[in-house]
Amino acid sequence: MEAMKGNLALITGASSGIGAALAREFARRGADLVLLARNRQRLEEVATACQQLGAGNVRLVEADTTDYPAIDAFVPTLARPLDYLVLNAGISQRSPALETAEAVDRRVMEVDFFAPVYLAKALHKAGKWAGDIHIAATSSISGLFGFPQRSAYCAAKHALKGYFEALQLETGLKVTLLFPGRINTPISLSALEGDGKAHGKMDPGQAGGMDVDQCARKCVDGIVRGKRQVRVGGKEMIACFAYKWFPGLFFKMAGKVSAV
Ligand SMILES: NC(=O)c1ccc[n+]([C@@H]2O[C@H](COP(=O)([O-])OP(=O)(O)OC[C@H]3O[C@@H](n4cnc5c(N)ncnc54)[C@H](OP(=O)(O)O)[C@@H]3O)[C@@H](O)[C@H]2O)c1
Repeated sequence: MEAMKGNLALITGASSGIGAALAREFARRGADLVLLARNRQRLEEVATACQQLGAGNVRLVEADTTDYPAIDAFVPTLARPLDYLVLNAGISQRSPALETAEAVDRRVMEVDFFAPVYLAKALHKAGKWAGDIHIAATSSISGLFGFPQRSAYCAAKHALKGYFEALQLETGLKVTLLFPGRINTPISLSALEGDGKAHGKMDPGQAGGMDVDQCARKCVDGIVRGKRQVRVGGKEMIACFAYKWFPGLFFKMAGKVSAV
């Protein structure tokens, strides 16, 4: 299980939910970790768990991925090039497209698309990619088709998919796109409503979603196997099948599925 011993992995959004669970999975495999998010206290709790699970060195970076001067200051402090870059930090949305302020559309795009792209490029420019770096980016089932009350989120997650597939084609690097369905994390609490306020509620869709550790295990298994995509979730994943093979049915049904 120590397949990643001596490998350095940077995971963004590691203070909570899927990122924290991914960190624990990398820890079980013995990786050295750089865990990045804004909430220092929660990062420390994740780091303690990672150390107990067998991680090598664990470094915490308290940073906002959209604070580009802070990212520029952090990048040169990385001790050595990364073997794994996991671009996972993100926020969601809970508001109809036509009732969503432009500032909210832009914020979701900033956090979920421009920030991971900025970080990846800044690391590359500074020589912090190992020659065989493996990049993983957390898109979403909402990065595969549209879904109500997620217009900007769907846009950002589709953009992330397109960007990192293009990068993979250009470089030949290993890139794994993660497409979680409904996973039991607090993501709906920080999701933005149309006026920019936090949704602040644990949605039933999330509460009844797949266990986050199970999700992370499947994601890391897929990364280790070099898969281009990992689609992970419960019965909602049938929508991927419907979208591809029965689009008429998909468009009839998807608008009626509860968006919370
Ligand atoms: N849960 C699901 O059902 C689901 C489904 C599909 C895709 N996803 C995707 O999975 C990823 C993780 O979400 P989650 O479900 O684990 O939600 P979560 O528990 O709310 O975690 C989000 C993480 O992103 C970090 N983050 C958010 N904005 C940030 C910023 N500006 N700078 C730095 N870190 C930031 C948060 O840390 P701080 O608050 O400490 O900064 C936190 O660690 C997201 O990209 C999300 O879109 C989730």
